[in-house]
Amino acid sequence: MKSSPASPDPLPMDWVREQFPTLANAGILMDNAGGSVPLGRVVDRLAEYMRKWPVQLGASYLESAEAQQRLGLARTAVAGLLGPQMAADEIVVAASTTSLISRLARSLVPGWDEGDEVIVTDVDHEANITPWRRLTDHGIRVREWSLNQDSRRLETDDLRSLLSDRTRLVCFTHASNILGQAVDVETICATVHEAGAKTCIDGVAYAPHRPLAVKDWGVDYYAFSLYKVLGPHCAVMYCRDTEMSGLANLNHTFMDDYEGPGRLELGAFPYELLYAAGGVPDYLDELAARLGDDGDRARAWSAIAAQESRLTRRLLEFLDSRPTVEVMGSVSPGPDRMPTISFVSRNHLSSEIPAICDRQGIGIRWGHFYAPRLIDRLGLTERDGVVRVSMLHYNTVHEVDRLIGALEPALRGRAA
Ligand SMILES: Cc1ncc(COP(=O)(O)O)c(C=O)c1O
Repeated sequence: MKSSPASPDPLPMDWVREQFPTLANAGILMDNAGGSVPLGRVVDRLAEYMRKWPVQLGASYLESAEAQQRLGLARTAVAGLLGPQMAADEIVVAASTTSLISRLARSLVPGWDEGDEVIVTDVDHEANITPWRRLTDHGIRVREWSLNQDSRRLETDDLRSLLSDRTRLVCFTHASNILGQAVDVETICATVHEAGAKTCIDGVAYAPHRPLAVKDWGVDYYAFSLYKVLGPHCAVMYCRDTEMSGLANLNHTFMDDYEGPGRLELGAFPYELLYAAGGVPDYLDELAARLGDDGDRARAWSAIAAQESRLTRRLLEFLDSRPTVEVMGSVSPGPDRMPTISFVSRNHLSSEIPAICDRQGIGIRWGHFYAPRLIDRLGLTERDGVVRVSMLHYNTVHEVDRLIGALEPALRGRAA
């Protein structure tokens, strides 16, 4: 008998699924890049906060002081999702990534000069494009880092030719929410820093699948949405400590001298949502403890990645075997391939496919997913964009097989 290579621990799937009570009564949910199912403990924490601490922070009475202390702990725990040694005051909390990046743009532009440049991609969700393109109103020049048509990836070599001594910021996605392919953030950040510029990264489609280490990668700004990472509807943005103090205050004028995240947290941050989000790192730690005595969170992430890779391989093998189908993005599962799989069928408009799955209780989706520039670049606007299947580690191989069974009749036949 051959000895098998060392492999990550299998996920305890029964326990994992029990952590998401909604899964027991829902259909097969494979639109997770739209929004993940919240953990039961997230829902419980949300209710707990609202019941126990319906108060404003900063006062001396018991409930206010308690709320302040609980939120401090939650902020530290949530900051830890962005990587080790992350301080609570290095993250900004708001309702969405769109809102955070938009605030960042408004806060940075007063420090820039007319003719300065910002680089955006045509691969990103609009959350990391529109706020920067709008800066042309302030005399900022926008340059575009385009999808490389040969590799269908963002290539660092293509970026190099766009960098200049006027570049202030390069904005790009860690992983496209359509192509499911991650880029090498560390190499890109080093390249950008050599040119004297900074980076703003959209981690929304990456954070649900892999551990983050934004400081090790040399990132300046990094945002992701908790509601796609098993949490409630809020988002966080890391600002490198040296950058936070350089941001213009968007809050009340009497706060102009205040330091820290409050400069971008207008009025306040969503208290109960941040508290609820503390359930996400808690889950990862409990999962890690179940997998090994050391309780190392990395163990949980590698088991998650292995489960997602199993699901990805199964679906990609099926789709790639259909002559009528073209998968957008790589067909080989690997560490950089997220379980977000988009495809088009030569015999159908993309809008026609999800309805077939709806009838079997399987939730998938079609469209441009707020990345219309990428869909245009791929020549798919007239095809109604792509069909997207986006999975998370709580999905099962059995569910993928059900999806394949539902898709199979529609995707039969020869390519035109
Ligand atoms: C890749 C990506 N970036 C950004 C966003 C925007 O996130 P939010 O809804 O928190 O603004 C989304 C939402 O779908 C997304 O998929």
